[in-house]
Amino acid sequence: MKKILVTGGAGFIGSNFVKYILKTNTEYSVINLDLLTYAGNLENLVDIAEDPRYEFVKGDIRDSDLINELFTKYQFDTVVNFAAESHVDRSITEPEIFLTTNIIGTQTLLDASKKHWKLNPDDKYCRKYKQGVKFLQVSTDEVYGALGSTGMFTETTPLSPNSPYSASKASADMIVHAYHKTFGLPVNITRCSNNYGPYQFPEKLIPLMINNCKHEKSLPVYGDGMQIRDWLHVSDHCDAIYTVLLKGKDGEVYNIGGNNEKANIDIVKLIIKTMGKDESLIVHVQDRPGHDRRYAIDNTKITNELGWSPKYSFEKGISETIDWYLRNNEWVEKVTSGSYQEYYDKMYA
Ligand code: NAD
Ligand code: TYD
Repeated sequence: MKKILVTGGAGFIGSNFVKYILKTNTEYSVINLDLLTYAGNLENLVDIAEDPRYEFVKGDIRDSDLINELFTKYQFDTVVNFAAESHVDRSITEPEIFLTTNIIGTQTLLDASKKHWKLNPDDKYCRKYKQGVKFLQVSTDEVYGALGSTGMFTETTPLSPNSPYSASKASADMIVHAYHKTFGLPVNITRCSNNYGPYQFPEKLIPLMINNCKHEKSLPVYGDGMQIRDWLHVSDHCDAIYTVLLKGKDGEVYNIGGNNEKANIDIVKLIIKTMGKDESLIVHVQDRPGHDRRYAIDNTKITNELGWSPKYSFEKGISETIDWYLRNNEWVEKVTSGSYQEYYDKMYA
């Protein structure tokens, strides 16, 4: 049985991944470590909560005593680090938590992995680790900064992050890389484009627009709405991460994208049309400071070397996603009650 530590497994992508891995490979058991911040929600995991191959631990990736205790208790051979502060807009108003969680948290996990996986704990320069161990850092295309109207991010594109969020993720990537180079730790970094799908917190573009459309509330489009993102269904992202766990070469970075560039305004209009609402709901609001104009991922490396490519078409994915948000009203109501309203009023005042 492979023992995998998934951090941030109560968030959007992490919860989809926990369910994906339990279903896809019965040789894995999962410990999900999550602090349950505003973005973490155990409701995302009700259908597998009683699975004997699954356990939840509430805790912080910055807590090294806890992480070391968990390594001793469970003897993990794989770590997949999803835990992060993940919202660019929040990073503009509260950058500090992004630095501590995303950077220090990652370094804490790396240190524990190095300590518990090293073959000779007394040799400070030992670069040999137990067979089959792996640390996978879930990163983002945002570390590369913004593109103009042409070109794509490859794994060799220089890091040039523009928001406190992307700067914290780029810093974490560099620390992960340093642990590979300096200590020989078996790592991979995946850099994925924008995800969408079930259980995404409605502060991000697609679920926010679906939820506002449902309530016939105005749809806040930043600036001219011509910013471009490369959208990928979350299940394709989970599949790509699993592929990297199985086949990724130690120390390598793999970009993951949807081959699916769309302008924000076109996504908003598609949601309006699919939900039978009117475009008069659109309101152009003040642009996000430092807003990256365009992201686009070149998938060549993961496709050619590991045989992964996205399966979901955007049309199918978005229609299923809208349907999911409409059918799961209770979930939406729950996550948008309380502090969400406070956040929303402050953000869009
Ligand atoms: P999310 O905000 O939905 O979930 C983050 C989870 O991390 C939450 O469950 C939260 O409770 C947990 N968490 C936060 N701080 C923690 C801490 N200190 N200790 C333990 N748990 C903590 O984020 P997401 O959209 O699921 O993204 C997951 C990862 O994927 C992030 O690392 C993000 O940078 C990356 N990523 C996201 C996207 C995207 O489009 N959403 C795209 C590429 C990469
Ligand atoms: P978001 O979902 O926050 O992801 P990211 O900033 O990580 O790409 O935003 C996606 C795009 O949608 C981004 O260009 C900002 C834009 N956006 C809006 O125009 N209005 C909104 O209310 C939100 C949340 C995002």
